[in-house]
Amino acid sequence: MAPKSLLVVSLLVLAAAVAAPAAEAQLGLSGLLGLIRIQGTLFCTANGNIGVNGTSTPVFPNALVQLQCGGTNIASARTNSSGVFSILLDPLNFVLSSLLNSCNLMVDTPLATCNANLPAVGLLSSTLQLVGNTVVGLLNITSIIPAAFKLLPLN
Ligand SMILES: *[C@@H]1O[C@H](CO)[C@@H](O)[C@H](O)[C@H]1NC(C)=O
Ligand SMILES: *[C@@H]1O[C@H](CO)[C@@H](O)[C@H](O)[C@H]1NC(C)=O
Ligand SMILES: *[C@@H]1O[C@H](CO)[C@@H](O)[C@H](O)[C@H]1NC(C)=O
Repeated sequence: MAPKSLLVVSLLVLAAAVAAPAAEAQLGLSGLLGLIRIQGTLFCTANGNIGVNGTSTPVFPNALVQLQCGGTNIASARTNSSGVFSILLDPLNFVLSSLLNSCNLMVDTPLATCNANLPAVGLLSSTLQLVGNTVVGLLNITSIIPAAFKLLPLN
């Protein structure tokens, strides 16, 4: 049946496009694939957030960003050359409310890596903030962003 095989092909293409985590993502009742995406931009500033100069603020590339829940690393990603990191999670494995309440982002790469004038000790950390759901093709993406980074001075 033509429409069905078209759907299967579209699903395969989408699954390949968003890589491994989405391959086993939830197929909801609506027929959409559920996916949780935590995405943000890390800036090369004293607190990791965008500076007064707005979009001309330098970014923090190649930084290791870890998702920690109750002190345990759950997932990680590196910022690309635009300072953007993206962590994809399967909604089958996470309860959204506990993710938002008990998890945070920790940056494991010292700020001095992107600017030698910034601290070589201390970790950037941010709580999570829910943005909402967007449907992209057959994906229902739950978008989460860092609320705001701050520098934790210890370690
Ligand atoms: C903002 O940009 C101006 C002009 O380029 C520069 O002098 C200043 O240091 C920048 N401020 C910050 C906080 O980066
Ligand atoms: C960094 O990742 C973001 C989000 O995936 C993407 O929009 C951007 O084009 C990437 N930048 C580079 C330089 O690849
Ligand atoms: C997308 O997922 C959210 C959270 O699971 C759900 O509340 C919403 O109804 C879904 N949207 C669609 C169009 O399926």
